[in-house]
Amino acid sequence: MINDIKVFYALIRPYQGKIWMSAIFGSVGGALTGAGLTNGVERLFSNVFSDDRSLSLNEIMLVAAIFPLLFLVIGVSNFLGAYLLHSAGLAAIRDLRVRVFDRLQQLSFAYFQNKASGDLIARITGDTQMLQITLNYVARKFITQPATIIGALYFLGLKAIQNDGVLEIYLCLAALPIVVFPIRHFSRKLSRKAIKQQEEFGGLTQNIAQNLSAAREVRAFNLEERESTRFRDRAAHLYQSQMKVVKYGFSLPPVIETISSIGLSIAFVIGYYQGVAGGVFTGVFLALYFLYTAVKSLGMFAAELSKGAAALKRVEEILQQPIEVAEDPEAKPFGPAKGDIQFDQVDFSYDSSPAVLQSVNARIPGGSICALVGPSGSGKSTFVNLVPRFFDVANGTISIDGRDLRSMPLKDLRQQIAVVSQDPVLFDDTVMENIRLGRQDATDEEVKAAAKDAFADEFIKSLDNGYNEIVGERGARLSGGQRQRLAIARAFLRSAPILILDEATSALDSESEEKIQQALSKLVIGKTVLIIAHRFSTIVSAQQILVFENGRIIDCGPHEELLERCQLYKSLYQRQL
Ligand SMILES: Nc1ncnc2c1ncn2[C@@H]1O[C@H](COP(=O)(O)OP(=O)(O)OP(=O)(O)O)[C@@H](O)[C@H]1O
Ligand SMILES: [Mg+2]
Repeated sequence: MINDIKVFYALIRPYQGKIWMSAIFGSVGGALTGAGLTNGVERLFSNVFSDDRSLSLNEIMLVAAIFPLLFLVIGVSNFLGAYLLHSAGLAAIRDLRVRVFDRLQQLSFAYFQNKASGDLIARITGDTQMLQITLNYVARKFITQPATIIGALYFLGLKAIQNDGVLEIYLCLAALPIVVFPIRHFSRKLSRKAIKQQEEFGGLTQNIAQNLSAAREVRAFNLEERESTRFRDRAAHLYQSQMKVVKYGFSLPPVIETISSIGLSIAFVIGYYQGVAGGVFTGVFLALYFLYTAVKSLGMFAAELSKGAAALKRVEEILQQPIEVAEDPEAKPFGPAKGDIQFDQVDFSYDSSPAVLQSVNARIPGGSICALVGPSGSGKSTFVNLVPRFFDVANGTISIDGRDLRSMPLKDLRQQIAVVSQDPVLFDDTVMENIRLGRQDATDEEVKAAAKDAFADEFIKSLDNGYNEIVGERGARLSGGQRQRLAIARAFLRSAPILILDEATSALDSESEEKIQQALSKLVIGKTVLIIAHRFSTIVSAQQILVFENGRIIDCGPHEELLERCQLYKSLYQRQL
């Protein structure tokens, strides 16, 4: 529990000033309610409603004004107390969310391929939400309960000194330590159940995310019912684990209350035989009751804390995830590059899977075009993904202009590279902004020039809002060929010395395809180009062709040479004819 408190404290530390202020306002409100109101009522009734009723109108008005005034002060204090507390709690959660999001930007590509995006979303939204509830509960109890305990102990001490026989009553406090056991038991259970509940919530979110991204497939394959059934199952599981949290959460108070009542019964019996006066006993009894209640609250506090800690654990998991593609702190600036790329004895594997690339050597001179061919799954995409360090090599080195990639700042390295992928992703923004992603400081004119170079200008102008047309999520409102041309426009705008192209395999209509080919042949001029080509029209013109098979480069050279000596290349070529 102490560790949990430490972690929570670290979260709210920047806002502790607000929390203390909130505590002050909260105690003013509490004190005025407890002492002020009761006291005021008592005095009022004994003075105002005395038998003679001799107060003047002014005096009556003055007395009548006390209540609204008291309530105003109580109301304002309570408001400020709650306001400040939430302001601190919500700010702490905001900070945490931002930290997690920032971390997600730094984590490697591989991390996301192994993680369900819905679960990650749930951690940033749902788990932090749960944390906030805990944070508020904990802060509120932390503020009020210690005061109650101190007050009750003070009173009990005072009575023990003043009265004989009272001290023995405190034997009933021996029942107190017993409550530690149920508190520990239920907190542990709760922590486990809360993790399960949050996992279920993550699963539910993942289910929604996946369903939405596969909207087309769901309809095309009549999967609606299957999807609904799955979702219903998920929702049912979530409900079950939520009810477990409710069960264990609400079991604790009655258990503590029962134990407390036994303690109070003991007090009553001892008090009777010690002959303690009725008035004194009532006070002592009340103080003991307060003490037990405060202990109960602390028990609840522990339970709530373990629930929050479970949520925090899931969030912290992201924060503590090591950054695999790490930046060398001593990296010296790099660029602009000439574009000589060299692979030296490179081995690579995803996770613990068998090697995907083995002893790969390649040299791609600056300004040349290099085509990658080979059967599906032979490692072509993996090879090109290593150049911008989407992944790091297991063994060997990759260098540009003779410098190891790992010795450059990531930003500088990626600045040298433009990537046009098979299935380019667009943001839900205007056409203009989507192209501008290529170089964020480009002017509108530069963006339009790039679009012209990519043969995209014409279709963009025919859109209702031209360059200001919103393309929809992932560019859903554009055709595949249009999306590709926007991606090429981005690459033009970036004008990076190294270009990586994953040629689209999907058949575009011949006009679209021709335009893309034209745009590409202009784009590659003067650049070092790595192209995963599926059309032999592209491949034939490359200065160098790397032939991949099972994660190895089995041959390389220009088209004519390979055609003569490489059996695999020949068969790939013949298949296309
Ligand atoms: N993220 C990943 N995690 C684990 N294994 C992967 C991952 N991506 C690819 N692989 C595996 O690595 C091998 C090489 O994949 P790669 O994508 O590089 O092939 P490719 O040559 O580009 O194929 P294609 O022509 O079909 O695009 C395949 O066996 C594939 O299953
Ligand atoms: Mg591929």
